[in-house]
Amino acid sequence: MTGELSPIDKAKFSAAKRAADMVEDGMRVGLGTGSTAAWLVRHLGDRVRDEGLRIQGVPTSSRTSQLARQVGIDVITLDEAGTLSITIDGADEFDRNLNLIKGGGGALLQEKIVAAASEEVVIIADAAKEVGTLGAFPLPIEVIPFGWTTTQMLVEELLVSADVMGRRITLRMNAGKPFVTDEGNYILDLHLSRIGNARQLAMALNQMPGVVENGLFIDLCDKVIIGYSDGRVETRDINQGTVEEGQIDLIENDNLFSDI
Ligand code: A5P
Repeated sequence: MTGELSPIDKAKFSAAKRAADMVEDGMRVGLGTGSTAAWLVRHLGDRVRDEGLRIQGVPTSSRTSQLARQVGIDVITLDEAGTLSITIDGADEFDRNLNLIKGGGGALLQEKIVAAASEEVVIIADAAKEVGTLGAFPLPIEVIPFGWTTTQMLVEELLVSADVMGRRITLRMNAGKPFVTDEGNYILDLHLSRIGNARQLAMALNQMPGVVENGLFIDLCDKVIIGYSDGRVETRDINQGTVEEGQIDLIENDNLFSDI
């Protein structure tokens, strides 16, 4: 099966496999959203089926919830869970301090709430997600539909004095209509090219009436697992300052997802 995957999918597969192996019996696990997190959910489902791993998963989107149930993970709400042992999620960009841009899949609000409720947050990614400075990936912000054009104008004004390179803002669309999040809101994508002070921008955006949350995840991530297409994985721990290398056996994992 992994033989049929593209190099980028093999990288995502490997990072997700390494992260899934960190999950222990009895854990309450935040389940991220996106193509990398989907691999994680499948790996965890495999462990539930083959090893009898007992976990409770808190999904960060309706998409992830559906997949988690399909693969046999016991799904609970965040309110039922209270706090989480670990959250494992993907990212659109990460920098050397493990600050992130997330929300490419439109699930940033639930993802941030779930991450904030977690003792440990682990990001899984392919190497292309690493950047020197955040901002090449358009920064998503979730806004209330009521008066969203006014909110956009206020954000445009804010960006004039912000340390960014670009200021174009687009409303995220889906099949000719505004994309609607699981919480019933819209997404504005901020094409900033380079964010000089991500912490300051994150705080300023969340002061705006109409802005529910932004896709900058500052000081939330503890570890990043970077996967490569040959099965190599690198785990960076920002708290310990350590880097660990490992190897996922892609051949051994070949028949894992033959049903996908
Ligand atoms: C979902 O809203 C995002 O935050 C994803 O975590 C992010 O877009 C990464 O997605 P991929 O794993 O598909 O690249």
